[in-house]
Amino acid sequence: MTTDNVNLSLQTSSAKRTMELARMLAGALKPGDWIGLTGDLGAGKTCFSKGLALGLGVDENIPVTSPTFTILQTYHGRMMCLNHLDLYRLGNYSELVEIGYEELLEDRCVLSVEWCDKFPEAMGADGIVINFELVDEKIRNLSFEALGPRGRELIESVRDFD
Ligand SMILES: Nc1ncnc2c1ncn2[C@@H]1O[C@H](COP(=O)(O)OP(=O)(O)O)[C@@H](O)[C@H]1O
Ligand SMILES: [Mg+2]
Repeated sequence: MTTDNVNLSLQTSSAKRTMELARMLAGALKPGDWIGLTGDLGAGKTCFSKGLALGLGVDENIPVTSPTFTILQTYHGRMMCLNHLDLYRLGNYSELVEIGYEELLEDRCVLSVEWCDKFPEAMGADGIVINFELVDEKIRNLSFEALGPRGRELIESVRDFD
């Protein structure tokens, strides 16, 4: 992500804080929203997805892990369902099409995609990309980029996070 595209930058000081931020965003989510998560391994993309799941009403005892081997995990929340993908191990976009990605883009669940920047075709038509950077053991920088008008609305929902 080039800095020109960044609409908001936030810092979190713990995994708990990253989950709180995700829960705040989840409060603004609507069926069909798309969230891309980029950045290094261990930077917090799955932690953020766990917070999204909690915010959408998924039982807190259900583990949210990187769906690295399964590629796709679906979580059924009381408010909304979440389709969570991790493209880290995928070789090409056609593998993603095979698991039904184009249908997921049309689905009424929220879609969160770790490593969405691996294939340009995997990017949502609108929504947000959040880039995670490791600052130190506990601090993470999160840079939000809106892909369109819906993305800009979603960013406004977390602008006052503190
Ligand atoms: N501020 C923070 N935000 C998110 N995770 C953090 C933070 N500080 C420490 N951590 C730890 O960093 C790791 C992030 O792992 P994970 O979410 O699986 O990363 P990714 O999915 O980006 O590879 C977890 O072990 C988490 O406890
Ligand atoms: Mg992960």
